[in-house]
Amino acid sequence: SEVKKIAVIAGDGIGPEVVGEAIKVMKKTEELFGFQFEFEHGLFGGIAIDEKGTPLPQETLDICKNADAVLLGAVGGPKWDNNSKELRPETGLLGIRKALGLFSNIRPANVFDCLKEASTLKPEVLEGTDLIVVRELTGGIYFGEKFRREGASGEEAVDTCVYNVQEIERIVRQAFEIAMTRSKRLASVDKANVLETSRLWREVVNRIAPEYPEVELEHVLVDNCAMQLLRRPSSFDVIVTENMFGDILSDEAAMLTGSIGMLSSASLGEGSFGLYEPVHGSAPDIAGQGISNPIATILSVALMYRLTFGYHEAAQVIEDAVKNVLDAGHRTGDIAVDKSTAIGTVAMGDLIVAAMTK
Ligand code: NAD
Ligand code: IPM
Ligand code: MN
Repeated sequence: SEVKKIAVIAGDGIGPEVVGEAIKVMKKTEELFGFQFEFEHGLFGGIAIDEKGTPLPQETLDICKNADAVLLGAVGGPKWDNNSKELRPETGLLGIRKALGLFSNIRPANVFDCLKEASTLKPEVLEGTDLIVVRELTGGIYFGEKFRREGASGEEAVDTCVYNVQEIERIVRQAFEIAMTRSKRLASVDKANVLETSRLWREVVNRIAPEYPEVELEHVLVDNCAMQLLRRPSSFDVIVTENMFGDILSDEAAMLTGSIGMLSSASLGEGSFGLYEPVHGSAPDIAGQGISNPIATILSVALMYRLTFGYHEAAQVIEDAVKNVLDAGHRTGDIAVDKSTAIGTVAMGDLIVAAMTK
């Protein structure tokens, strides 16, 4: 088969350790399915600031632009937290999403039965939970004008939130399309009782809704949604929302699955090109200890196979292997009920690779 180019930008903290396990899984699928991947590594985030003086070097961006898909770990850490905006790892992350036109961030949260005990919520509340947060990724308050100024009573900071109709339309259409492939329920989350951008958001959703008469649409205010996610998580199917609300709600949804270490994501634009990364960050508190959970990144590879390459059978093999390893009781610390039995990152990766069969 054709060689696929994968840009690997592992980043900081636990990024390189979880990405290492994901690459092992990809290599196993080369053996099983005859796929051929060419991995090109690029510096990104804090490590790029240290070595190249910028979180997103042009060379790294070029590697990504020349690739068929990007595998990303995570960026950030206390070392760079007080840097000016241009020299912060997170600025590189926003930059790469914008530069690659990745306006749609898909974050599935489905509960593995055997992990119900790992969640802080009651197992019966989690029963049947299988939802996807579709997060707008290149607009809103993350990308609006930001500045400091001298106000009447001293220094002030300003972040502006802007959305245009086209930006809302394209993400909302994608969410409706995804809902059509699932249980056909869509929750559009906004703060239309207060925010002008949310009022426009809701108008656009209502204008598009008649194109999808089979989809049952509900508008939910974001504060209520945060609460309903804990009260009745299984009633949600697809949630579509703006950039910052999606960031916050997806971390909340992670706890339905037991840990943020379980949540994968795909960032997509108009074509099949995609960037795949775990929802979690660089976890500085556990970095370098070899105890992070690699499953979020491994499941992101399964998303890559489905959404960029159409390798559905291989994606299923990965997802089944993860399920089998969890069913057999293997746990990293974040999902272990009895922490004394927890295994490390590499051991978890090895078990998943060993469980992969056609
Ligand atoms: P975080 O997601 O890195 O960590 C939150 C908590 O979850 C920590 O206790 C951490 O140990 C735990 N955790 C996260 N991933 C885990 C895994 N795979 N296995 C086990 N436990 C895991 O969020 P934070 O602490 O708020 O942020 C740390 C840094 O990461 C910050 O610099 C932040 O900006 C950055 N960040 C980056 C991304 C990204 O690169 N996409 C995402 C979120 C945060
Ligand atoms: C995420 C992260 C990023 C975001 C940060 C690190 C810029 O939290 O990918 O969820 O807010 O988008
Ligand atoms: Mn986040």
